[in-house]
Amino acid sequence: MSHSRMSILEETGYVVLDSWGDPMDPSEWRDLAYVDWKSSGDTRFAPLKSAYGDIECNGFWHHNPPKADKDGVDVPHNVSRAPTLMKRVAEVGARVGRCRIIELQPNTYGDALYNSHLDDNNRLNPEGEGWIVRCFMQLTDDSDSVMVLRHDINDPSTETRLALPAGAQLVVDSERMWHSVWHPGSEPRYCLITSFESSPELEDWINRNNPRTKVDGESIDAEYAATMEASAQARRQARTDYYGYDPSAVYSEA
Ligand SMILES: [Fe+2]
Repeated sequence: MSHSRMSILEETGYVVLDSWGDPMDPSEWRDLAYVDWKSSGDTRFAPLKSAYGDIECNGFWHHNPPKADKDGVDVPHNVSRAPTLMKRVAEVGARVGRCRIIELQPNTYGDALYNSHLDDNNRLNPEGEGWIVRCFMQLTDDSDSVMVLRHDINDPSTETRLALPAGAQLVVDSERMWHSVWHPGSEPRYCLITSFESSPELEDWINRNNPRTKVDGESIDAEYAATMEASAQARRQARTDYYGYDPSAVYSEA
């Protein structure tokens, strides 16, 4: 027996939904308690749900008792300051694991490729239950930033770049898809990232939000892309040589 998965993610590994329309008060992400937690570059995270409600971002399987990335517990300090975000998550109606806001400092396309990784979403997930996927709800209006997705990190032709204006909503099988964000802005990017269990409820929510499983993606200057590709792959190789393995291919905890 394996995990139950949603057919909508089968072909491309992602789905782009209609944007969240209502404006949000930036205090819902600015006034939270953040912890240093490195993922895909220079990042911090503000947990809204953690393994047992503490202000920390560790994988649920590291706790005592360990558990799969489900049934996250509200972090009171942050939840009380982010009522709209919590409402958005609850409206999905699916089982929630890790739920936190990422703060990402500006970077280059090459940095994004260097930091691209696969997530560790399904450790301890019992066979027969729903496969855990990630939902990304963009908070800041970073219209020039993109989520960089690849089926094969070593094959640029498998890349799709998804735009990140305020309110953008994406669901990604991030344990299968290489991912990171290229954020060329001058201010940090904020995004709500939630682990959801694949389920009829999650599928219904996706279907209510005009899902697109294949988009053209944002364009990129070919010469710039080639230069960044070469430098990023050299940096990735140097890291692999240093560790003796590719740490980004060992499912990341972020
Ligand atoms: Fe990730």
